[in-house]
Amino acid sequence: MTAPVFTPLAASLPSTVPFTGPEALERQKGRPFTARLGANESLFGPSPRAIQAMQDAARDAWMYGDPDLHDLKAALAAHHGCTPANIVVGEGIDGLLGYLTRLMIGPGDPVVTSLGAYPTFNFHVTGFGGTLHRAPYKGDHEDPAALLDLAHQTGARLLYLSNPDNPMGSHHPAETIAAMIAALPPATLMVLDEAYIDLAPPGTAPQIDPETPNLIRMRTFSKAHGLAGLRVGYAITNARLAQAFDKVRNHFGVGRIAQAGALAALQDQDWLAQVRDKTTAARAHLSRIALDNGLTPLPSATNFVTIDCGRDGTHARAVLQALIQRDIFVRMPGVAPLDRCIRVSLGGPRELDLFGAALAQALSAVG
Ligand SMILES: Cc1ncc(COP(=O)(O)O)c(C=O)c1O
Repeated sequence: MTAPVFTPLAASLPSTVPFTGPEALERQKGRPFTARLGANESLFGPSPRAIQAMQDAARDAWMYGDPDLHDLKAALAAHHGCTPANIVVGEGIDGLLGYLTRLMIGPGDPVVTSLGAYPTFNFHVTGFGGTLHRAPYKGDHEDPAALLDLAHQTGARLLYLSNPDNPMGSHHPAETIAAMIAALPPATLMVLDEAYIDLAPPGTAPQIDPETPNLIRMRTFSKAHGLAGLRVGYAITNARLAQAFDKVRNHFGVGRIAQAGALAALQDQDWLAQVRDKTTAARAHLSRIALDNGLTPLPSATNFVTIDCGRDGTHARAVLQALIQRDIFVRMPGVAPLDRCIRVSLGGPRELDLFGAALAQALSAVG
């Protein structure tokens, strides 16, 4: 055998890249996108106070960041009415999902999610050898009853639910989520991904004791706070689980500039309120564009609108390709029947109008 010798698990993993970034597509096309509306980033940008804090921290970047993330954790705990022992900060929700899976999932362990839900979670589960069981969506919503049934049938270690949901933009009210948590099998931990919660209607986030043993909630600075490039997310959970992350996390993974930027963003709730207002206006604008083109915008509780193109996945994929050829970056759900849709991030009037013009052309080109 010659080096490098992989573990049997690593050797068995497919060598696919789960996400093709817009940068790779730009390199392939040989020109930049005119509107970057595919990754659910916030085109409204970060708080000016966060930008200032990051600029100020830049000169101190020769020092590692605080591995205890003391100040950020204290501020998050105060914000959420819990203790710092209930908070884990990591390299975005994506990073935290990886750590959680490493803590909870070994080869063959059952995990439940929805068919077509956030793929990065699946990527981590597969990466640690877990076995995914998927419940279909019901009417463009993740299906709480089907997910629970599957968790009971399989004895799942983890049950993943994103509320609001990516890729459909739908949401369940807080009571539905609270009822789900109450009905979990005893050995199942619910992973409640609340990446978009800051943009959801009031009454979407359940009020739940952070010490609840079978729940971990994940939040991020990537969406409403407009800091996707910074890589800061956090989890709220019981102190026992939170502490376990110390066994596996990259203790210096969240850098000094990132900690300063996230802290200042959290402290600028006025900016968040402005982003919410812009989000409401942009949802209406984007929905109007879809309707004007004979397509159906789905209701959105997120920073994107999923647009039903009215036919099957082949048609939606052709529309998507035609948009990309016209330098508009959008993405779409991966599996039927969700793949009859394209998914378009919100933006300002300029980007949305560019999308609208390209959509009309793309639809007539595709026929
Ligand atoms: C449901 C969901 N969870 C997590 C993420 C990623 O969050 P982060 O940037 O904090 O890793 C996304 C990004 O699109 C998402 O849609």
